[in-house]
Amino acid sequence: MKIVNSIKELKNFLSKEKENGFSVGFVPTMGALHQGHISLVNRCVGDNHVCVVSIFVNPTQFNDKKDLETYPRTPEKDITLLESAGCNYLFAPSEHEMYPEPDTRVFDFGQLTEVMEGEHRPGHFNGVAQIVSKLFAAAEPDRAYFGEKDFQQVAVIRAMTKQLHLPIQIIACPILREADGLAMSSRNVRLTKEQCQKAPLIAQTLKESTNFAVGKSVKDVTAYVTDTLNKEPVMRVEYFDIVDGYTLLSINDWSETTYPVGCIAVFCGEVRLIDNITYEIK
Ligand code: PAF
Repeated sequence: MKIVNSIKELKNFLSKEKENGFSVGFVPTMGALHQGHISLVNRCVGDNHVCVVSIFVNPTQFNDKKDLETYPRTPEKDITLLESAGCNYLFAPSEHEMYPEPDTRVFDFGQLTEVMEGEHRPGHFNGVAQIVSKLFAAAEPDRAYFGEKDFQQVAVIRAMTKQLHLPIQIIACPILREADGLAMSSRNVRLTKEQCQKAPLIAQTLKESTNFAVGKSVKDVTAYVTDTLNKEPVMRVEYFDIVDGYTLLSINDWSETTYPVGCIAVFCGEVRLIDNITYEIK
């Protein structure tokens, strides 16, 4: 695996690969890699001749300074994991490389970014769009891979790719979970031992809510999930919305969509965790 720090160098390597007719797959990450990331890398390696992974903790998408400062960083472990997963290029730029000057672009994704993460983390998706558009311009991949845990992020990236007319296929990959159901996340390492024991309740409650939903209203299911989790002293639900999985608009009745998805953000102690589940209402 080649480790590349500059855009120029990455472009040079990848243009040679493309001249040879090789397809390029790309997995953007912020490092602190876990098996969820590796599942994206595995898919990327399987689908493409060349796999590029980026590691860059993007300051413009953090609306909370403390979250940026405490974001886990494990560069050596990341390199070992990527090498054994068959990644060909690791792009690990500096902040100056990605932002030689401040990025003043303001994206407009309409309703997609007005709800859920967009509502609770102002500016977050603008920062995501800024960095992902820059990374796409650097790697010019044929395909790019994102985890469905960040359900809204996938919708925003698809919208951005369409707005910018980028010929990149966006591939959403399923959430990877620990044995107890907890969605894998780089932030999980920040949980204390006690919080670690409680955090799986998020996924368990979401799963149980799919059984509870039979014959119940959207409002009942929303209350069930929120109340169950808020009963735990260590947990505080920031939002739980059942939305149309295509538009991300909240639904009031199951008949409003063929693709209802429950999206949640919960503080477990100080650590903010997100997860989601699809309902199959017959
Ligand atoms: O999902 C992430 O890790 C980040 O939001 C991404 C897509 C790498 C952009 O910084």
